[in-house]
Amino acid sequence: MALTSLTETLDLYGRVVFLRVDANVPLDNGSIADDGRIKAFLPTLEWLTQRGASVVLASHLGRPQGTPDPDLSMAPVAARTSELAGVPVPLVPGVSGELVWSALGALGPGEVCFLENLRFDPRETSKDAPARLELAMEWASHVDATVVDGFGVVHRKQASVYELPHLTNAYAGFLVEKEVEVLERLTARAERPYTVVLGGSKVSDKLGVIEALLPSVDRLVIGGGMVFTVLAAQGHKVGKSLLEADQIGTVKGFLALAKKLGVEITLPSDIVMAEGFSPDAPHTPLPVDQLESGPAGSEAMGLDIGPTSAADFRTVIAQSRTVFWNGPMGVFEFEAFSHGTKAVAQALTEVSGLSVVGGGDSAAAVRALGFADEQFGHISTGGGASLEFLEGKHLPGLEILGWQPPVAP
Ligand code: 3PG
Repeated sequence: MALTSLTETLDLYGRVVFLRVDANVPLDNGSIADDGRIKAFLPTLEWLTQRGASVVLASHLGRPQGTPDPDLSMAPVAARTSELAGVPVPLVPGVSGELVWSALGALGPGEVCFLENLRFDPRETSKDAPARLELAMEWASHVDATVVDGFGVVHRKQASVYELPHLTNAYAGFLVEKEVEVLERLTARAERPYTVVLGGSKVSDKLGVIEALLPSVDRLVIGGGMVFTVLAAQGHKVGKSLLEADQIGTVKGFLALAKKLGVEITLPSDIVMAEGFSPDAPHTPLPVDQLESGPAGSEAMGLDIGPTSAADFRTVIAQSRTVFWNGPMGVFEFEAFSHGTKAVAQALTEVSGLSVVGGGDSAAAVRALGFADEQFGHISTGGGASLEFLEGKHLPGLEILGWQPPVAP
């Protein structure tokens, strides 16, 4: 079943619309390090204000655990939204309560405000459904409709994402519609060859998606910190590289399953081994069966895939018609260890079919490395949400808007 689209709304003039977005942007000393998630909801915001809706923007930022934390205030997000949208976006210093209701009541047609970080109120993320419902009912009695455009949070059963849309007329924003459209292409009708490239630090975070994807992909390329658990499962020594020793058995299981299903697994053949975790640590590329043979011996740690691996990964990606990539190949924040991630990003820009960069971190990585959004088929704003979508999990924030996962043929 399809999402209830925003374009199905009738008269919005003067109506108060609660616009739930995912403005959970990376912060660096209080400034926004990557504003991609803000830019991503602007078309929906503009569409609503042009029709005279009074828009109450709402999002979480970080995980303040239900207590106000000045370091996680929505203030910089409201300011950046105002700059980008070219309209005033005052911050309402609260999530609910009289001050908030009077700010909402004062909004004129086409005017916008931003609520404070929703997670400052413990009821937003409460495990207790009645507590979430109580907060949602407070909002519902002050707004006329809800628009969910925070794709990155649709996998969370939280008051603003699940209970509130249940209580009011609720619609999917344009970003959510686009994300679902692209990810459905990956799950239901990916052109072959279909390659998934996975990186990032923890293999345990990706096991679900690997298991779900193995029956439908042609190739799985693995790099990043998670690869050391895979290399260890193959019997390689990995020095002081990231390792989840308790996952080795599970990893062996998926390697065997991949073989059975005929999925080609591409692993690095060399790794950049560093003498420590710092931007200027001495380093050298070593073959995967000799990772402890450098000057630091078994104290060395792998911080990037090596140049031969980067070239191999590029070849596999270039031969694919559909590529989904989640997770950096190394510690891309340090220039010396960014080459593998850059090579994969570059290869994705050259794919002749559909290339999708999935996840907040990967999206921030490609922008930090100087790539433009337009160079990729799609950059998903959802990290956990896009992985859970691909895993075929229930996504409460989409299901409440009328969407159901496609039934397997
Ligand atoms: C994300 O960054 O993936 C989303 O904003 C969800 O954040 P959460 O994992 O803290 O719920």
